This record gives sequence, C-alpha cells and structure tokens, in this order.
Amino acid sequence: MNILVIGGGGREHALVWKLKQSPRVEKIWCAPGNGGIARDAECVTIDAGDVAGLVAFAEKKLPDLTVVGPELPLVDGIGDAFRERGWAIVGPSKLAAQLEGSKIFSKEFLLRHRIPTAKMYGSFDSAKDAYSALPNLTFPVVIKADGLCAGKGVLVAQDFEQARYFIERVMEKNELGAGGRRILLEAGLEGDELSFIIVTDGKRYAPLVPARDHKRLLDGNQGPNTGGMGAYSTDALLPEELRTSIVASVLEPTLAGLADQGTPYQGFLYIGLMLGPCGPQVLEFNCRLGDPETQAIVARMDFDLAEVLQNVASGRLVASKLRWKPGASACVVLASGGYPGKFQTGKPVDGLASAEQIAGVKVLHAGTKRVGNEIVTSGGRVLGVTAVGPTLGAALGSAYAAAEKIRFDRMHYRKDIGRQGNTLRATGS
Ligand code: AMP
Ligand code: GLY
Repeated sequence: MNILVIGGGGREHALVWKLKQSPRVEKIWCAPGNGGIARDAECVTIDAGDVAGLVAFAEKKLPDLTVVGPELPLVDGIGDAFRERGWAIVGPSKLAAQLEGSKIFSKEFLLRHRIPTAKMYGSFDSAKDAYSALPNLTFPVVIKADGLCAGKGVLVAQDFEQARYFIERVMEKNELGAGGRRILLEAGLEGDELSFIIVTDGKRYAPLVPARDHKRLLDGNQGPNTGGMGAYSTDALLPEELRTSIVASVLEPTLAGLADQGTPYQGFLYIGLMLGPCGPQVLEFNCRLGDPETQAIVARMDFDLAEVLQNVASGRLVASKLRWKPGASACVVLASGGYPGKFQTGKPVDGLASAEQIAGVKVLHAGTKRVGNEIVTSGGRVLGVTAVGPTLGAALGSAYAAAEKIRFDRMHYRKDIGRQGNTLRATGS
C-alpha cells in the first residue's frame, strides 16, 4: 500500500510511525510533515488545509489510502472530494464533520437526540443579544465560538465581567475571525474530563483505549490553555461500567442519529466528556483524533493500523482486530519558551538519539524541521516524548528519563503528566 497522511504535528508523526511498521505498507507521503516525519515518510510541501492541492497531489500519485489528521480539511470537505473520485480516505464527510465545525450544530444535534450534555442557554449572532442574556444566568457560564478557532474559542466564565469581555473580543473585535461570528452559551459542568475516541466505518465501530490530555500549560493544571501538554493512557481510566454507560447513553445514539439524518459517520470520532454526578455528558465532538492523545494511544496499538484503516475506508471494519498492549503509555510534550504565546524558532535540538535508547521510548516530532543534518524547533509544541510500560508509573518514568536527555534553548515541559492518578474521582455511573 501507498498511503498519504495529512498533517504535520505529533499526532501525524504517531500515525506515520505506526503505519510504517505494517508489512503491507510500501510508501508513505505526509503533507506537510515535519522534521521527524521526514525520517519515516516522504514529506510533501502542501498545507494540510489546502484541499485542492491535496486532491491534485492524490490525482498524480493515486495513494491506496489517505488518512487525515487535522479537522480543517475535513470540515472543508476533503472526505467528500476523495470519495467522489473513488479514492479511499479515512475521515467523515463535510456534513458529519459539522459536529466539530459548528458548536451550535453539535449542540442542537445532542439535544435533538437526547444525548446528555450541558444545558444550552442560547445561540447568538449579535453581541448585544448575548449581553442581555447574561444577567439571567447562573455562573459559571460557558461561552463557545461556533466555528473552528484553533482551541481558543471556549471560555468558562466565572462571572458576568469575564463573560462580557470574552463576548466583546469574539463578536465585536472579531479576534477569532469568522469562527466567532456566532456564539453558544451553555451551563458550566464540573467533574473529570475524559477523551473517548472511536473509529467507525459508518456501520461498525471500535473504541480506542482511553486517554487523558493535560490542557493547561503548568503543573497542577495552572496557567493558560494550550493545545495539550501531555497525555497518558491506561485501561484504569475507563472502568467497564463507565464504558458501558458511555456507549449506551452517548456513542450509540450519536452514531444512530448521524445515520438517521443521512450523514453516517466514517473515520475517527473524538468525544470530549465531563464525568460528573449526573453521569457522562458531552462537552464537545472532534471529527478527528486528539493531539497529544493519539501519541499515547498509538503507543499501545498492537495491531496493523494500515489494515484496520483500509477496512475503515472500505466499510469493512473488524473491531476484534484492534488489540492493545496492556499496561500504560505516556506522552510528555516539550514546548518552546513562551508557548502558547509568542516563541522563537530555529533552536537546535540535542539528545534525540540518546532519549530513544531508553527502552519503550519513541520521540514523536511536532514543531520541528530538518536543516542539513540538524533538527531545529519550528513550532510551539516541539516534541512528544512517548513511552510504554507495564504500569503508568513505569511509562511515565521512561518518558521523563528520555525528556531529561533532550535539550533546546528555553525548552519547558510539565512535570506532573499522569500524576492525577489513574482512576477517576467520580465515574458517575
Ligand atoms: P470544547 O472545545 O467545547 O471541548 O471546550 C474546551 C474545553 O472547555 C473543554 O475541554 C473543557 O475543559 C471546557 N468546557 C467546555 N464545555 C464546558 C462545560 N459545559 N462545562 C465546563 N467546562 C467546559
Ligand atoms: N488534545 C485535544 C484535542 O486534540 O482537541
């Protein structure tokens, strides 16, 4: 098989790394890839959001399978563009990708199908109307920009002033662009967050192992939100009873609802859940894998990913083929100084080879590029140091030992990934 992977972050490096291990894979292209992916695949300089450019590339090379990492091309219809031409691709249609592309669409879908989610206070296309709704609400109130905003479109507002200021920035100052033209107001929920990710061929589905992200910049979940500073996976994150309850109350009604409305879902579906006293409630859908959850999930895969994804694309998923390593995995993100704000790039990265000498460790690249024989930083999240182990403690121990071998100017990382423990405070089930 010749495979095209779209994207250039840590998630895509994890996919490329795993796909390359398949005996049935001959060649992998990655658009645009990064400095680490370049060792495992042929990087092509087409932006992940350039659907027309990707179609033109696929027309020339005719990959046997295309796997899409980020949401942008999916929301822009790359799934339809490829399938219309008879090309195998893993990813939902433009309509089904609205689950991520529009928070209002997604909320209305959840309510219509009676899937548990935070109460919706309203959707607004004028700041004035949104302001006037605020005094009647109980805080915290969650404000969500409707469209794609690169992770910056949600605020959990603790009081009126915070809410008003955010709405002003999003709707009046247009700080988030078109994604912020409409907003959604909903009730704030409390509890533990869990990412539940499945892959589906449109009829059958298979859950991936559970993973938890760490979104805040600093230890103890302090500091600003980021794309994700680390993740871990262990089966203890999702006790059987909780899994059953998520499948019955959330997953199956979601897949059935999408099929019933004529937009069956194919690809990876990421369900962001809050586990609180009322049981699992949906916070968000993503029409793709999470980053850095994927790095932790892929590390535990004990199956041929190319075969499984080929089956997904052709509507013949065999869920029992997804076998997983027992134990745990962890991914620690090494970030540039200043991230998630302004940061410098072009810093040489040292110690990669000695980090990977530690058993069970793979260093997955995100914001790197190759300059001559050197790897230099090119983004905010630079590397995801990923490790497996028989226990969460062992996986974390290896990942942190490897992280300590790596150096670049102003590198920083969280020291407490996976330290909240590996069981849930409240399963709600
Ligand atoms: P979203 O992109 O909708 O998942 O929102 C990003 C983050 O905002 C989530 O991971 C949660 O931490 C938080 N969040 C979203 N909705 C809610 C809610 N209803 N209650 C509390 N926190 C929320
Ligand atoms: N790690 C969260 C996300 O990919 O959306």
